[in-house]
Amino acid sequence: MLSPEQNQQLTQVGAGTPMGELLRRYWMPIAGVSEFDHQATKAIRLLGEDLVLYKDLSGTHGLVDRQCAHRRADLSYGMVEAKGLRCNYHGWNFDETGRCIAQPYEDTVYPERNVKDRIRIKSYPVQSQGGMLWTYMGPQPAPLLPDWEAFSWPNGFSQVVISEVPCNWFQCQENSIDPVHFEWMHENWGNRLRTGSTKLGPTHLKLAFDEFEFGFTYRRTKQDSDEHNQAWTVGRVCLWPNGFFLGEHFEWRVPIDDHNTLSITWKYTRVPAGHEPYVQDHIPTWHGPLKDAQGRWIDTHVMNQDFIAWVGQGVVADRSQESLGASDGGVVAIRRRFFDEMARIAKGEEAKGILRDPAQNQRVVLPMMDRDELLQAHTVEQIMANPRLKLLYATYPFQAGQPEAVRQAFSQAMGIDAKPYDGIVLPRSTEKAGM
Ligand code: FES
Ligand SMILES: [Fe+2]
Repeated sequence: MLSPEQNQQLTQVGAGTPMGELLRRYWMPIAGVSEFDHQATKAIRLLGEDLVLYKDLSGTHGLVDRQCAHRRADLSYGMVEAKGLRCNYHGWNFDETGRCIAQPYEDTVYPERNVKDRIRIKSYPVQSQGGMLWTYMGPQPAPLLPDWEAFSWPNGFSQVVISEVPCNWFQCQENSIDPVHFEWMHENWGNRLRTGSTKLGPTHLKLAFDEFEFGFTYRRTKQDSDEHNQAWTVGRVCLWPNGFFLGEHFEWRVPIDDHNTLSITWKYTRVPAGHEPYVQDHIPTWHGPLKDAQGRWIDTHVMNQDFIAWVGQGVVADRSQESLGASDGGVVAIRRRFFDEMARIAKGEEAKGILRDPAQNQRVVLPMMDRDELLQAHTVEQIMANPRLKLLYATYPFQAGQPEAVRQAFSQAMGIDAKPYDGIVLPRSTEKAGM
């Protein structure tokens, strides 16, 4: 149980707050590159700051203040130019560093004054990686954008899935270090929803949580898996400070502000044997809905179930009212580490897991269960005969709302006719479900 003040520290992300300063030490994924196939600007709110992300006509991305420096018009309605983003009100143009590079009327009547040289708007750097756009909102010098090895895996189809979840980011991230919820939320509740069965899956028997450079791992044994299983020998990665790495996919919980979270998933699927070499020329991005036609939270897919837990805890979970149990060792460990890190950053020390040496930022490997199974080429027949692989190839069980066009592109790459996820019961073990 935490004090209300401690709860605030963990959850408030504005500039100048301890957690806001900590999170500003890290690159954050904020959008899909392919979102800019058919749009030039995107209004976006990050860490409590209203911004606009754009792609200009020469293909440069910028992330700048939402409000124009002139008389505060909304730049998300601006026009992109060969260089920069031009305000739709009086035509002032800003480049990706926030410099004003044109003031049409002033440049015409008083060219010698060059007032624009003194005008700037807030801007943050943007880089692309893994089909996503990333930004860094902290002090310079910026660290390197992590080059996770997964982004270089060949012969795969990747997709990026985005949703805005109306609750604080920290309770979403606590979910990344919470192994027992898989058994209950995704297996037992999931199966109850689909089949009505009251039969329960194998229970957890033992948990371990370990810290390493890039976060924490959790490890587990269950009634159906012993200490030789990679769920114990390797485990899953709660990626510092706001990610989750599950082998074939990453999830990030990026704070929009204190009350909303951008959920971003990057999902990779290796093409089957006989379909390589495969080079994906376009990584699709899609937006997953949260509610059904009746206004109820969608409960059919893995992450939608997680969203129900996160939002159900309240807009900001009140940790002064909780009663932690024996399954919460990881939650306690990351909270402790966040408090320590906030204190270290306040003293000007380097943040945890930051990469600054290019030689060390090459295809950085994270602990990964079932690496061979997920990365080697299986035949379509082998895939369809294996319940876990079938779940990962014949459908998209992680989040509701995959567009037909994405499903078709995926099916074509795999040579498997993927179907919408329609309530296939998860394999009885979470170890087998890829979670
Ligand atoms: S408000 Fe943007 S140019 Fe005038
Ligand atoms: Fe979950």
